[in-house]
Amino acid sequence: MSLDLAVIRAQFPALHQQVNGEPLVYLDNAASSQVCRASIEAVRTFEEQDKSNVHRGVHTLAQRATSAMEAGREQVARFLGARSSDEIVFTRGTTEAINLVAGTLGQSFVEGDEVLITHMEHHSNIVPWQLLARQRGIVLKVAPIDDRGVLDLAALVGLIGPRTRLVSVVQTSNTLGTRNPVAEIVRAAHDAGVPVLLDGAQAAPHEAVDVAALGCDFYAFSGHKVCGPTGIGVLYGRRELLAELPPWQGGGDMIERVSFQGTTFAEPPARFEAGTPNISGIIGLGAACDYLRGVGFDAIAQWEAELLDAATQVLQAVPGLRMIGTAPDKASVCSFVLEGAPAADIGTLLDMQGVAVRAGHHCTEPLMERLGVPATARASFAFYNTMDDVEALGRGLHKVRKILG
Ligand code: ALA
Repeated sequence: MSLDLAVIRAQFPALHQQVNGEPLVYLDNAASSQVCRASIEAVRTFEEQDKSNVHRGVHTLAQRATSAMEAGREQVARFLGARSSDEIVFTRGTTEAINLVAGTLGQSFVEGDEVLITHMEHHSNIVPWQLLARQRGIVLKVAPIDDRGVLDLAALVGLIGPRTRLVSVVQTSNTLGTRNPVAEIVRAAHDAGVPVLLDGAQAAPHEAVDVAALGCDFYAFSGHKVCGPTGIGVLYGRRELLAELPPWQGGGDMIERVSFQGTTFAEPPARFEAGTPNISGIIGLGAACDYLRGVGFDAIAQWEAELLDAATQVLQAVPGLRMIGTAPDKASVCSFVLEGAPAADIGTLLDMQGVAVRAGHHCTEPLMERLGVPATARASFAFYNTMDDVEALGRGLHKVRKILG
């Protein structure tokens, strides 16, 4: 079940370069992973040979483009364990997927209705609900976390009440790596008759997702974090639920029939995909999903756990370093602060040594406030990272420590 890292790394052209005169050590995978060759090649084939619009043409290229795009939908459905590719709606990314739910399901919410999230959400699972609060007077409820960044599950369950219309939670925290007990959350919400949206942006790159087994109603993730292209993402929606939702954006492809007297709308998923879709992105995402399934999530999870253990030890050996986010069984994300060193300076000084990390609030400002830090530096590992990468991070941070005192 172990990974052949030389074979794997050969599939990622961008990893093989120098940055600032040093070999690149890419540890910003939670922001965006590198793209695998299978995805690059699938996009290239489309652009070079099959470029056309979809669902509209009778000519050969249009038919090829349509089949390649719909094959991408099938690949994503298999990746998520969806029962049917009709449950896969393409979006620009996780953010747009959540906004789609807010803009459709949310249109039936009335003043005083509640959406329940957690304190560790990304802004993309906070702001759409705040916009809905302004428009419709809904109330945003927030389940607490402890100082390690672990969700208080009992408190979350206790917040589900008669006015709760949706539970919308992150499966794995981008800032902390905390994996939330999403199966239990789905069960508790469903016991109360409440649907659940899972933000899977940071979970889908690290573990096999099975939406049918999880029983969630919606699941969102982004292509660029699963070794695919940018600008493409997915909203999975349970078929019965999607069928009940009104359209979101209006335009071509989402209609059944248009007249000035009135328009009727297509069945899902087309109902939610107005306009020409990101065809090449869908094709590239489908190829990336197949590639990851081929590598295998058991092996990915095992190797990333080893990387996380090693990185944790290396980081803890840096004087004045404090880990932010210490949940048991977390994903391979290491956020930290270094006494006397602003996060942005850490990021810049590491970059000068070829080590790419993210520094900032990671689009989780309420979480930063809860944990009492303005920003963190964050090293996030993918299955193509090596123990040499971990050591380079450690060396880099000892140098940062020396430079900044
Ligand atoms: N949400 C992405 C991150 O955590 C961009 O970096």
